[in-house]
Amino acid sequence: MAFPTETVYGLGANALDAQAARGIFEAKDRPANDPLIVHLATPDELARVTREVPSTTQRLTELFWPGPLTLVLPRSLRVPSIVTAGGDTVAVRVPAHPVALALIREAGVPVAAPSANRFGQLSPTRAEDVLADLEGRIDLILDAGMTSVGVESTVLSLVMSQPTILRPGGVSREALEAVLGSIRLSTHRVSADEKAAPSPGTLAHHYAPQARVVFYCGPRTEMLARMRQAALELHQQGKRVGVLLADNDRAYFSGLPLILRTVGAQDNLEGIAQRLFSTLRALDDAGVEVILARDFGVEGLGLAIRDRLTRAAGGQVTVVSD
Ligand code: TXA
Ligand code: MG
Repeated sequence: MAFPTETVYGLGANALDAQAARGIFEAKDRPANDPLIVHLATPDELARVTREVPSTTQRLTELFWPGPLTLVLPRSLRVPSIVTAGGDTVAVRVPAHPVALALIREAGVPVAAPSANRFGQLSPTRAEDVLADLEGRIDLILDAGMTSVGVESTVLSLVMSQPTILRPGGVSREALEAVLGSIRLSTHRVSADEKAAPSPGTLAHHYAPQARVVFYCGPRTEMLARMRQAALELHQQGKRVGVLLADNDRAYFSGLPLILRTVGAQDNLEGIAQRLFSTLRALDDAGVEVILARDFGVEGLGLAIRDRLTRAAGGQVTVVSD
């Protein structure tokens, strides 16, 4: 069953039932080496799925749960190994969404749920995105409109020698560092055919739309000038070109034969994160062959936005200097 969380829609099943969890992998075409996040209704239920949690756990759960923070902790043997992809750790969070919480409470068990998309595709932020990916493969979608955060949870490992962000997401690195001091950011990127990733969501090519994505970083003016030039060259080669922009970037591209989609004001990172995946989907739906996307920095949610766009671009970043 697909259900909304504050980040993206999830595809849920009883986390303590191996057979139920297997159904998730099948519906998503998800490889068995990619573990699932276990969702709880309250932090008190942590003991049902973990053992010997480090002392920092409680401070983090008090501050950030319910919310878009997933903690990787030592796993209880009650959690079937299919959920943890055979590993000794389990990823856990309490989502901040009334429908998700009601569902978990009603189920009476922890709910394992990855994002409700086919493996490697963009995560769904609306019920219709789930339908587009999984129609005929799942029995039910709980529709609560568009999700508010729009990018997935931050995955923070507490089982390594230093707390490590395995995936930047809805809780910013700065917010975590205010509590924990300096945190490592896993920069591990593996190609799609490499088998053993520490957190397989770190596959370089993940969260990808159908169109090829070219991702640009650099000072705004130079970055936009380079994107404009590249867009025109691609258009001249006969390509249908889409551009993902902030509202105030439009002037750089107006009057050109390009398909422009904006994600909001460039300093409103919450709004950009919320609209990021649906805007990439909209560009796909418009039938573009190439999407040129701009960076929004690394502050706050900027880091998660950059991470998703880098992956959508297959790990290739065009760095523009001034
Ligand atoms: O916001 C979210 O996290 C959403 C909603 C539905 O909660 N879920 C989500 O799940 O994005 P999924 O399966 O698409 O991504 C889970 C990420 C993957 O990168 C996976 O490799 C990582 O968490 N992960 C899960 N269990 C892990 C573990 N035991 N150790 C390290 N990484 C783990
Ligand atoms: Mg996913």
